[in-house]
Amino acid sequence: MVSKDIENYCISHSTRPSEHVQALGDFTRESVHGSNMLIGEMEASVLAFLIRLAKVKNILELGTYTGYSALAMAEHIPHDGKVVTIDINRETTAIARKYWDQSPHGKKIQQILKPGLEALAGIEENFDLIFIDADKNNYSNYLDWALKHLSANGLIVVDNTLWHGKVLTPGLDKQTDSIISHNIKARDLEGYTKTLLPIRDGMFLIQKAGPEF
Ligand SMILES: C[S@@+](CC[C@H](N)C(=O)[O-])C[C@H]1O[C@@H](n2cnc3c(N)ncnc32)[C@H](O)[C@@H]1O
Repeated sequence: MVSKDIENYCISHSTRPSEHVQALGDFTRESVHGSNMLIGEMEASVLAFLIRLAKVKNILELGTYTGYSALAMAEHIPHDGKVVTIDINRETTAIARKYWDQSPHGKKIQQILKPGLEALAGIEENFDLIFIDADKNNYSNYLDWALKHLSANGLIVVDNTLWHGKVLTPGLDKQTDSIISHNIKARDLEGYTKTLLPIRDGMFLIQKAGPEF
């Protein structure tokens, strides 16, 4: 949504992920198909800021890929915190585990190798941060689950909610329409504070509203 030069300037003035996360990002970009799916340093710094601000301890992530975002988030939670991350891809998950094992924060990460909805059906606890970044066709389903599993001061962050600007054009394809439906559902939630930020490919932030003033 902003020029590469501006984004790089913002990144260079923001909290950077560790060398472990950067090495994982470099490897993914050089060697793994679909590396444009990485959240990248800009979004990592926003997540780090939110995690610290909201004193997040437990995180649920949908969409591990090669483990970049999971590790970037794990670096900002306490030692007894955890990141539970879900993905269906055995190959990219193996890369993730290899890099997590090289980081002192990797032990905070628990991997579930299952389709998102199936994995969520087996999870009953609540989370301080739920980061949705897996298959776009299930975004509304993931949001429904997240709303029921959010701790009192919890935060939901949904990635790619601008979908390269395609959300302005309904009917383009199934994924776009799914994200549009999700965004409408999120917008119309009552009792929640919401902001859809034009950072990278769109970050939708949703939090239970506190008392009315
Ligand atoms: C955008 S990538 C995640 C990127 C990651 N959060 C990061 O920035 O490092 C989306 C991931 O969702 C996974 N995925 C696709 N369909 C899925 C499903 N039904 N259940 C779980 N994961 C799925 C893909 O295998 C892919 O790794």
